[in-house]
Amino acid sequence: MCGIIGYIGPKKVVPILIEGLKKLEYRGYDSAGVALVDKGKIHVKRVKGKIKELEASLKKSPLAGSYGLGHTRWATHGRPSEENAHPHRDCSGRIVIVHNGIIENYLVLKRKLKDEGHTFTTETDTEVIAHLIEKHFKGSLENAVRAAIAVLEGAFAIAAISADDPDKIVAAKLGPPVVVGFGDDEYLLSSDINPILSHTQKVAFLDDGEMAILEPSGVTFTDFKGNAVKKKVETLAWNPMMIEKRGFKHFMLKEIFEQPEVVRDTLLGRTSLDSGKVLLDELGVKPQLLKKVRKAVLIACGTSYHAGLVGRYFFESLAKLPVDVEYGSEFRYRDIILDKETLVVVISQSGETADTLAALRASKGKCAAVLAVTNTVSSSIAREADGVLYTHAGPEIGVAATKTFTAQMTALALIALYVAQARGAVDKKASLAFIQEFQRIPHKMEKILGQAKTIEDLALHFVPFSHFLYLGRWVNFPVAMEGALKLKEISYIHAEAYPGGEMKHGPIALIDENMPTMAIIPEDRVYDKMLSNISEIKARLGYVLAVAHENDAQIRQRVDAVIPVPAAHPLLMPFLTVVPLQLFAYYIAAKRGADVDQPRNLAKSVTVE
Ligand code: AGP
Repeated sequence: MCGIIGYIGPKKVVPILIEGLKKLEYRGYDSAGVALVDKGKIHVKRVKGKIKELEASLKKSPLAGSYGLGHTRWATHGRPSEENAHPHRDCSGRIVIVHNGIIENYLVLKRKLKDEGHTFTTETDTEVIAHLIEKHFKGSLENAVRAAIAVLEGAFAIAAISADDPDKIVAAKLGPPVVVGFGDDEYLLSSDINPILSHTQKVAFLDDGEMAILEPSGVTFTDFKGNAVKKKVETLAWNPMMIEKRGFKHFMLKEIFEQPEVVRDTLLGRTSLDSGKVLLDELGVKPQLLKKVRKAVLIACGTSYHAGLVGRYFFESLAKLPVDVEYGSEFRYRDIILDKETLVVVISQSGETADTLAALRASKGKCAAVLAVTNTVSSSIAREADGVLYTHAGPEIGVAATKTFTAQMTALALIALYVAQARGAVDKKASLAFIQEFQRIPHKMEKILGQAKTIEDLALHFVPFSHFLYLGRWVNFPVAMEGALKLKEISYIHAEAYPGGEMKHGPIALIDENMPTMAIIPEDRVYDKMLSNISEIKARLGYVLAVAHENDAQIRQRVDAVIPVPAAHPLLMPFLTVVPLQLFAYYIAAKRGADVDQPRNLAKSVTVE
């Protein structure tokens, strides 16, 4: 997704914009640019490619300015190119704009503006906004922005500056996020908090339909009609150190290793080893309401969807509830049937995924409650849900989700046990036993991370492969899906996941010496069934790696290689079986020279459809 950064204050602007754009790189992009205002003139510099090329170009021909905007573009309309890179200008070049989102009616507006004499230089939807602001500009930039956005259809987070209404940055939000940072006599705005953290931890998040006007004297908030809006300035718990690599080669590897801490932090203070109770008052949903719940619907995208698939087993086995797990992009277009006895839980680490947000909005008011599991404080999903359970994973910079996946599973297990207790579906003894097992998971994860080198050595054999099959059953089938997604999205190797029981319904036709299989096979209720799947594969010369219990002697006779993991409560095995799959994908991708933290075509937060 596109990234926006703006700065107004006493410091040199270019380094702040460049550093800010670097902290937005993880969102995924194909071009970048900056615009500054200097002595009544606007200067723009844009490149197709990476921030470092923009930096080099600015070193070659520096730009001065007292305030400005930066942007990283993830192309939606108009191919990746310098002319399509933001910031975009109006005809005069005295108004520039940066934008994240999609203007759905831009072609109609473009034709009208052309008929009115405006000349366009790009293929983008964004440029239309610059010309609309120009059309309505009568001296006040914020009034011109208001008139412009009044005719827009779609989603937009925009920031604009004008040489004719200087010392002012005007931002507006409908859809993608905008966060404002309050420094010492300096103000910033961005698409997310990472670029702001190195300047201040005091932030305010725009809600849909709101605008921010940043000036040297301070920040004014209004709605789209110009009415004043009061915004709460929050102090974030995150600090700049949390978004550095700290000696790891990639953010993704650092985040894989942070998982034990993340599970501990997400559990912290939310269970009692005395009463066996789950303590989730923060959810803001009364246990009496949960007592009436007869069904759960979990909704998410991508890795978060896989966390939801694991969550299904928690709700089914602990809370004794029937569960549907839905893709946000599918659910939002269905003839949705919900009732007041159905609990909806949306899962999104960014809290900004457009499809998941749309599913939340489609569910609100039609069910018992819509809860959100998210990693981003005050994100759109957090603000619109009836109750929020934050994962305490810290900022996840790698585009491929890892620690937020295990944090989401932690949060879903807590909610499932909380609902189970509200429904009387689980007694104190069983609760205590589960919670005690849960408390041991982080240490068991650390044991697996301690054998990373062995997993790396094994992974390197598979660097040349072009296909991979992942198999799992019951609560580990979603882990197979997540393992396959990791391999796909960072190494670009085609990988598919199937429930083991599905092999004989087709996929076994794929097996030969060029199609290796990763089998997840802890000693649980489906262990013997998985063993038969493995035998069928071996009988057809398929190579099989197994993630299995460290004390399982039998498996070593049945497969070509074993990645051992400690045993744990069967429902909690996903926390352990996913770690080797994350490392496996990481080492293969790194060896293949892939851009592990910013895989091609991917964005960290998919804020458009
Ligand atoms: C997973 O590695 C990807 N980064 C992607 O599938 C991601 O999980 C998905 O886009 C959902 O994002 P969210 O959790 O922020 O909603």
